[in-house]
Amino acid sequence: MTTTTMQRTLSVDDAIKSRHSIRKFIQEPISKEDLHQIFELVRLTPSAWNLQPWRFHVITDKALKEKLQEAAYGQQQVTSAPAVAILISDMEDVLANLPETVHPGLSAERQQDEVANLSSFFGGMSVEERGQWGLTQTNIALGFLLTAIQGLGYASVPMLGFDQEKVKEILSLPEHIKFAAMVPFGKADAEGYEHHRFPLEKIVTYY
Ligand SMILES: Cc1cc2nc3c(=O)[nH]c(=O)nc-3n(C[C@H](O)[C@H](O)[C@H](O)COP(=O)(O)O)c2cc1C
Repeated sequence: MTTTTMQRTLSVDDAIKSRHSIRKFIQEPISKEDLHQIFELVRLTPSAWNLQPWRFHVITDKALKEKLQEAAYGQQQVTSAPAVAILISDMEDVLANLPETVHPGLSAERQQDEVANLSSFFGGMSVEERGQWGLTQTNIALGFLLTAIQGLGYASVPMLGFDQEKVKEILSLPEHIKFAAMVPFGKADAEGYEHHRFPLEKIVTYY
């Protein structure tokens, strides 16, 4: 089967405006280069204290996608898409490896202080509390992911309609992780719905 490599990159403006949830995809695998380019962009997502709790599991294997579709209550887009990204937050991994989150430009002393502060702050939370905190950060990466996919000329649909325990089992993920979304993506083979959004007056207040 031919692999697609997209040549064009949309402006941020165009990527945001043209993104609609797409649930039917052209049956062509996405090239490794494009997958790499998408996640290279998403890697730049900002997070509080730069903790970067997001982890991406990218599934292209047909049999695994079929299992995921079953866990997603049969939603067709999961097997229609050539690739499915599962975006999780893993704060236990962050906490176990705090020194790697600290900026290498800081002095050794400041690095040590930062690790001690973070360790004390997050160590004082329950696994559930810090899991929820990590999810707030990981949702930022979800926004970047949808925009990066669109920017490269692909389409996607973010999903939370799936049995999380089943997906943990399918991918052998640890119990403590939190899901931000399952994101089937590929070349669109359908048009999405027109945007239906609140007017600015409802959502923006100027002072
Ligand atoms: C976190 C999240 C979870 C969603 N879960 C599903 C889902 O399980 N199945 C689905 O078909 N669409 C899902 N959607 C897509 C929304 O229905 C869609 O984004 C919304 O209606 C706006 O339409 P648009 O994405 O085309 O602009 C989800 C969207 C988000 C952001």
